[in-house]
Amino acid sequence: MTIKEMQEQILRLKKEKDICILAHSYVAREIIETADFTGDSFQLSVLAETAPQKTVIMCGVRFMAETVKILSPEKTVILSNPVAGCPMAEQMDKQLISQVKKEYPDYTVVAYVNTTAALKTVCDVCVTSSSAVKIVSKIDNDKILFIPDCNLGAYVAGQLPEKKIKLLNGGCPIHARMTEKDVKAAKALHPDALLLVHPECRPEVVKNADFIGSTSAIMNYAKQSDAREFIIGTEISIAEHLQYECPEKRFYPLSKELICSNMKATTLVDLYDCVLGRGGEEIKLDEQTVRNARKCIDMMIKLGG
Ligand code: 13P
Ligand code: SF4
Repeated sequence: MTIKEMQEQILRLKKEKDICILAHSYVAREIIETADFTGDSFQLSVLAETAPQKTVIMCGVRFMAETVKILSPEKTVILSNPVAGCPMAEQMDKQLISQVKKEYPDYTVVAYVNTTAALKTVCDVCVTSSSAVKIVSKIDNDKILFIPDCNLGAYVAGQLPEKKIKLLNGGCPIHARMTEKDVKAAKALHPDALLLVHPECRPEVVKNADFIGSTSAIMNYAKQSDAREFIIGTEISIAEHLQYECPEKRFYPLSKELICSNMKATTLVDLYDCVLGRGGEEIKLDEQTVRNARKCIDMMIKLGG
């Protein structure tokens, strides 16, 4: 079977079986072409809840599939490839944060959505990269404990100097690889290009950026800009998708190291097996986890919408 034929089968089967396919923008193009919705973490969590289908296949990483299950516990939620985790989401556990909360009892605990369902149960509100500044600014408490990404947390703190933001030492190992040295090297190669970066990058990278935003915000900015060349400081697939969508412009990844192997774990064959009902992993969460984790996701949607 060719890739095209497999895509056609997936499109046919998902209709027949009432399946919704969600794909994060970091996954491969041939998967995105079969998806009902593509977007950043925030868009996917909102879309997951409104999707009318009974089954959702998440082409992304485990915390994203868990978020869908928390929002739609009545749906069958399949993670397209069970090995696709997020190292950042697994950096901190419930026990650690419960302990830290005892040291900072009057702080509101803000969790990046890139956390496990279990960890969300001990947090007050979730944020995504696109909604973090807006949501933290609306929280009726100046004292914020921001977990787990200290780079995103530092970015939020810089935007909201009136808040006292306590950070822990976590983050995305892919975005955190980028240094000012990479920025200098990329700018030397492409002196006319604008630098667009994700706030998961280190402050030394973010401070050099012409634009800072989530995956979708970076894509929208690049598409609408009159500039013709861009250095893209986020997962490498964003430069690839943009190049595909805007052939008249030029997109250069900030570094060839910007590859998330977990986001690349899902193949079109995995997705095909899922729609056939013989692949992926069904996400199961107990009722109490769903109930408690949902509170901070609902708060995110309320404050971020
Ligand atoms: P966004 O989808 O919020 O841009 O986050 C990027 C990311 O690293 C997802 O895992
Ligand atoms: Fe996790 Fe970073 Fe990969 Fe996103 S890019 S899934 S935060 S490791």
